[in-house]
Amino acid sequence: MSIPYPLLSLLADGRFHSGEALGQALGVSRSAVWKQIKQLDKLQIPLYSVPGRGYQIPDGLELLERERVLAAMDESAAQLRRFDILPELDSTNRYLLDLAREQPGVIAACLAEYQSAGRGRRGRVWVSPFGTNLYLSLLWPFAEGAAGLSGLSLGIALVVCEVLESLGLRGATLKWPNDILVQGRKLAGILLEMVGEAGGPCQVVIGIGLNVRMPKQHASGIDQPWVDVQTALGRAVSRNELAGRILAGLCGFLPRFEREGLTPYLGAWQARDGFLGRPVKLALPTEIVHGHWGGIDVSGAGLLDTEQGRRRVLAGDVSLRSEA
Ligand code: BTN
Repeated sequence: MSIPYPLLSLLADGRFHSGEALGQALGVSRSAVWKQIKQLDKLQIPLYSVPGRGYQIPDGLELLERERVLAAMDESAAQLRRFDILPELDSTNRYLLDLAREQPGVIAACLAEYQSAGRGRRGRVWVSPFGTNLYLSLLWPFAEGAAGLSGLSLGIALVVCEVLESLGLRGATLKWPNDILVQGRKLAGILLEMVGEAGGPCQVVIGIGLNVRMPKQHASGIDQPWVDVQTALGRAVSRNELAGRILAGLCGFLPRFEREGLTPYLGAWQARDGFLGRPVKLALPTEIVHGHWGGIDVSGAGLLDTEQGRRRVLAGDVSLRSEA
């Protein structure tokens, strides 16, 4: 789908713009404006069209701006060799995986306003409407290779959670391995993808999808209970500031994680573990196991207390089981 980005930039202020004024500003005819307006329908961007007044995006849009994200990153911005914001991508993770193959070893970040094929864990789709949430990827090289990275995704979820808490969010919990939940509803998801040879240096693409203001008309595509930051916080937040703070948090976390692993972060993660001690069902690749959630260990493994004893699990989907 082609995004009429210049048109959206004009309408982002939330005011009415006549077709004529839009045509003039864009240097195109009124019928060309109308065709672009039709594109917005396809993207399900809410738009008022009022005869005599023109077109308006109610509430407007806060588009992503490079300078504003970098400003929110403070001095950590200097760590990024490359930082791209694109109106549209299939997937920010795919974009940086390609870059990792072309330019091994760079630290790069990428944000998209819209993803046509946002990737979730376990082959799921990540619902990625235009201009309202965050789809963010960060490419990071690890000299020591993949072996020491087992707890990485847990640490990243903690970083994102702490950024949200610094903005006033209360009651967010972590769900192993890397979901952020508020009252059992998913606020953010993390997908790590890797380039590199076994045993050698590797590059990790850290993909973060954060529901900031999920338009209701897109929610039907989401196959699990969800929430967005605006609802959880009870106020609007700047996506530019949020993106900058998350990137800054990651740029602080990743070098330390590379040196010390999950150890310095274990206590903070456990304090936010929403399932600790609760009866759960754990879906493993070949079986379903019931037990009580025992938290995580320093390698990032999940711990399940079953009638047969404690089990250490490296991958799986955990869900709450009613006490009854
Ligand atoms: C999950 O299923 O919980 C992980 C979702 C990860 C979504 C993000 S959005 C930015 C990045 N690009 C993608 O295609 N996926 C990740």
